Amino acid sequence: MSELQVKVWRGAAAGRFQTFAVPRRDAQTVLDVVTYIQRRLDPTLAYRFACRVGMCGSCAMTVNGRPRWTCRTHVASVARGDALEIAPLAHLPIVRDLVTDMREFFDKWARARGQFAPTQTRREDFARVAPASPARLAIDAAIECIGCAVCYAACDVVGWNPDYLGPAALNRAWTLVSDVRDGSHRARLAAVAGDAGCHACHTHESCTERCPKHLAPTASIAGLKRATAVAALRGEL
Ligand code: SF4
Ligand code: SF4
Ligand code: FES
Repeated sequence: MSELQVKVWRGAAAGRFQTFAVPRRDAQTVLDVVTYIQRRLDPTLAYRFACRVGMCGSCAMTVNGRPRWTCRTHVASVARGDALEIAPLAHLPIVRDLVTDMREFFDKWARARGQFAPTQTRREDFARVAPASPARLAIDAAIECIGCAVCYAACDVVGWNPDYLGPAALNRAWTLVSDVRDGSHRARLAAVAGDAGCHACHTHESCTERCPKHLAPTASIAGLKRATAVAALRGEL
């Protein structure tokens, strides 16, 4: 049986790579490799996962230089010969080893007003949105985001400008800007129209290229650019 030579990031930002030899197996995922190392070779290795089936997004790491869900990435599709390099997600503080601190990622969702603002009370009937309505269809894919931060780690602008809200928070804001039940329309547009908002996006599409759910944050950001421009022309911002 052949062996993988796996370089794994250890420590915090000032850490280093440590190499482990891991047996290759059929249909082996990168998360299987990390789990093997933690269970068989070094129980102090810190990493994060939950569902193992591409639903929670918590297993995202940098594999051979690219952000990916490790549970849905087969070793055979990314290994360079027998070499693998596994690091924490980029653009986020490292807690330890492969674990990043997600606070600033989700703080940006709050800064982009990513919370639904209800216009009705719980005593009223459900506010129904027709599935075939144009506003609902416009966000049909975008609402499937699971907040894994793969797009955020792939975005160069986040790397250059740590204040930039980033593709996931802006994608979330777009789903709410397009939600006919939401009562925070103007305030949300104002929140995403600033220097760190949608107009800072350079439309590189790395986010769209890397999103494991095949969502298109770039298209959501383009929607915000149009909506904020129209609001500005109307004197609403
Ligand atoms: S847009 Fe895609 S890559 Fe970005 S957080 Fe959502 S699911 Fe993850
Ligand atoms: S399209 Fe915009 S948000 Fe997406 S990776 Fe490029 S600069 Fe970042
Ligand atoms: S462990 Fe949940 S998406 Fe990978």
